[in-house]
Amino acid sequence: MPAPLRYAIVGTGGIARHHLSQVLERGGIEVVGFSDPCAASLERFGAAHPKAVRHRDPRVMLAKAAPDLVSICAPNRNHCALVLAALAAGAHVICEKPMAMTLAEARRMEAARRRARRHGLINFSYRNCPSFRFAREMIAAGEIGRIQRVNVVYLQSWLGVSSARFSWRNDRKIAGFGALGDLGAHMIDAARFVSGLEIRRVIGLARTLVPNMPDAHGKPRAVTTDTNAAFLAEFEGGGIGTFETSQTAIGYGNHHRIEISGSRGTIAVLSSDDKQIWMNLGDRLSRYASWTTSLPEVAVPTGFVSAQPPPSPAVLADVLRGAKHAYPTFADGVRVQAVLAAIQRSERNGRWATL
Ligand SMILES: NC(=O)c1ccc[n+]([C@@H]2O[C@H](COP(=O)([O-])OP(=O)(O)OC[C@H]3O[C@@H](n4cnc5c(N)ncnc54)[C@H](O)[C@@H]3O)[C@@H](O)[C@H]2O)c1
Repeated sequence: MPAPLRYAIVGTGGIARHHLSQVLERGGIEVVGFSDPCAASLERFGAAHPKAVRHRDPRVMLAKAAPDLVSICAPNRNHCALVLAALAAGAHVICEKPMAMTLAEARRMEAARRRARRHGLINFSYRNCPSFRFAREMIAAGEIGRIQRVNVVYLQSWLGVSSARFSWRNDRKIAGFGALGDLGAHMIDAARFVSGLEIRRVIGLARTLVPNMPDAHGKPRAVTTDTNAAFLAEFEGGGIGTFETSQTAIGYGNHHRIEISGSRGTIAVLSSDDKQIWMNLGDRLSRYASWTTSLPEVAVPTGFVSAQPPPSPAVLADVLRGAKHAYPTFADGVRVQAVLAAIQRSERNGRWATL
């Protein structure tokens, strides 16, 4: 029996619950530590794992708990320092998206990971959707031909509803970005993942369209992050990408859709219906389909097993036990961060920004 993997979490808020449950699904995991500046949150996580070290200072927790694998689930501003601390403590790291506040930070994190010879995963969770994975494999097999257009939307509505309250996500100093980093990071990674193509240049627009929001005490606080953003992209090979994201799109709870057309067909996926894809393969789908404007719905085959398992945070546990699974790496995080930085550059000077 191999020794259990020692696992710890820094930042015990909302997304940390998912990391913990997914990693624990693997079995052979010993939860050894939690760190968060909020004592109540530490208490909640610690209750089910009384033997785990709990400490508000992550460096103290890392030194005492000596984890093999650490999830970094703190707000964006803290990702870089916490990843460097976890690597310095000898751990492999699962870091939440967006990887960092800036491209320079993301590069520093990847350089430190390489020096430490550790694995680093960025939790681009849409890579787990069966439909996104099926579309990726269809496209890689040449089913839609040479890619000509990529249209991506990621719309949420939480900032548009009256019960919304100001949080760290609305503060640029802590979040770095608004919709662009929170949802845009997912859009960019998922478009790269499904199309198999990199973005070469971008021109974008990001705006704060909700100027202030009440905090928990009802006091208005200035929103300093973008609430709405859009950008045009050129992919390698010349395909045109159109991307739109919003936190204020009333009517859309969480709507992430990717549609890609190539020289032989069109394929679309929707995160909220991730067992279906929509596709039209022209003459090859049916004698008439190429003359309609419909995208018939097709179930992801029940027997579909993608070439690689879904890269939930737990995939690193498998990798540490010798599995050869692919997962979204720190290098993917750096690439996404470079696209975000280029959009911000183009937003500032009104010109195309090349990557
Ligand atoms: N992959 C996804 O789909 C997805 C979904 C949600 C959130 N996220 C990302 O996860 C991260 C956390 O988001 P969340 O929704 O869990 O936020 P949250 O506010 O629910 O939790 C954040 C936690 O971090 C703690 N924290 C604050 N400063 C810290 C520090 N210096 N060190 C350690 N902990 C600290 C807070 O006290 C809180 O408990 C963000 O980067 C966010 O973008 C990703």
